[in-house]
Amino acid sequence: MTAPLPPGPRGDLLLGSTLDFKEHPLHYIKYLHDAYGDVVRFRVGPSYWYLIAHPDHIWDAMTRRADVFLKPQVAKRLWDKFLGDGLLTTEGDAWKRLHKLVMPAFHRKRIAAYSEVMTAFSHRMVDAWAAGERRDFDEDMVQLTLEIVAKTLFDADVQEGAEVVGEAMHVIQREMIEHIHMPVPVPRWWPSARNKRKLKAIADMEGVVREVIDARRASLEDHGDLLSMLLLAKDENGEGLNDREVRDQAMTIFFAGHETTAHAMTWMWYLLARHPKVTERLVADIDRVTGGEPMTLAHLKELPYLEQCVKESMRILPSVWVFMKEPTEDVEVGGFLIPKGSQVMISPYVTQHDARWFPSPETFDPDRFEKERAKSIPAGAYIPFSGGQRICLGKSFAMMEAQLVIGSLLQRVVPSVPVDYKLSMKAELSNHPDGGMPVDIVFRDAPHEAVAK
Ligand code: HEM
Repeated sequence: MTAPLPPGPRGDLLLGSTLDFKEHPLHYIKYLHDAYGDVVRFRVGPSYWYLIAHPDHIWDAMTRRADVFLKPQVAKRLWDKFLGDGLLTTEGDAWKRLHKLVMPAFHRKRIAAYSEVMTAFSHRMVDAWAAGERRDFDEDMVQLTLEIVAKTLFDADVQEGAEVVGEAMHVIQREMIEHIHMPVPVPRWWPSARNKRKLKAIADMEGVVREVIDARRASLEDHGDLLSMLLLAKDENGEGLNDREVRDQAMTIFFAGHETTAHAMTWMWYLLARHPKVTERLVADIDRVTGGEPMTLAHLKELPYLEQCVKESMRILPSVWVFMKEPTEDVEVGGFLIPKGSQVMISPYVTQHDARWFPSPETFDPDRFEKERAKSIPAGAYIPFSGGQRICLGKSFAMMEAQLVIGSLLQRVVPSVPVDYKLSMKAELSNHPDGGMPVDIVFRDAPHEAVAK
């Protein structure tokens, strides 16, 4: 292949761009795109990474060349003890089999059954809030999504277990990030305090998952939740998932479906607080359609503007800021060579902030996603859930959850973020507000002075 290597910064002689990238990954890759174009090469530690940002190239990698752009080997190694052979990390026939077995659990009809939990838990959360208090909204959303996944995946009577899982998830994620950020990573088998902490957290989480799987296998009862679906799933040969496979899928779905949705909802609340006109229109819609009754799945069909607001929030502040691919052969992208085995970054944040596809990209404008207007967005430009065959399995679940939770909150609470709060994104495993999101609790039926405070 004779194509040249893509342009990019020379960086530090020893460290390349490692320090700039680690200091603020999101700002740095956005800068790379602005400075060097749609295909960029930069060095992190000893290896070269590649950013591809043009929708055509992204779409091509996710669809036509999906069998060449696979999940990075390093991710599989990094996650193996935690996620095992889960849907997120497997490839080829193993992934195809799992996908076929697990897909029905995410079928629209199946997911519809969870809508009541989403609405009820949102109201339960608001019931515990007091007028005038300042809360960390992100923390509340993380707790809420944890409860929703725990209920829909594990069923209600494992509230305690859900707490253990939540705590373990925090430790695992923190340790993973530290591991990625170490200039010379400590081997995963080394009995360091850090590795021990991670292994203990994985064992704690696994303990809860195993207990539930064992109990459920013994009862053979269909609880109507995701775990029952996983246990009852059968492939065309009548083969189901074994305990190890169920464990891996349960851990994966818990991990993938928890904080991603929480941060997406936090960002949306922030954007609504800063755009009262949008909020006014949205609240009027919700009030008209629901008549003050609790939100249901049926209401969502009549609330296109709510869906537009969710989509626009996920465009401007996507919670998954990057996903990685690794080509299994030398590939040419936009006239440049990306060598086999390189780390290729696709960033929803970078591409969704490109003025060529989203004019005035920093403007929060939910009408971009109005049915007719949205047709002009090129395939591969709007990718908060990735795309192609490896598109997020929980997309419908997450979209429904975001609409029902935010819709239910708007029925009772006015989005209010302190005027002096300065937005600060922290791009770790997912993109979340650095230091949390302070929100003042102002109920809609509160006296005018309270709302104006
Ligand atoms: C706003 C919320 C969410 C966002 C932004 C999101 C985003 C994504 C993205 C970008 C991927 C591809 C990752 C990659 O290629 O490395 C993915 C995969 C996945 N997501 Fe989500 N996700 C969300 C919620 C959920 C939920 C609620 C669940 C489950 C309950 C879930 C389950 C999964 C699974 C199982 C995969 C792996 C799919 C496969 O490779 O076949 N996600 N998600």
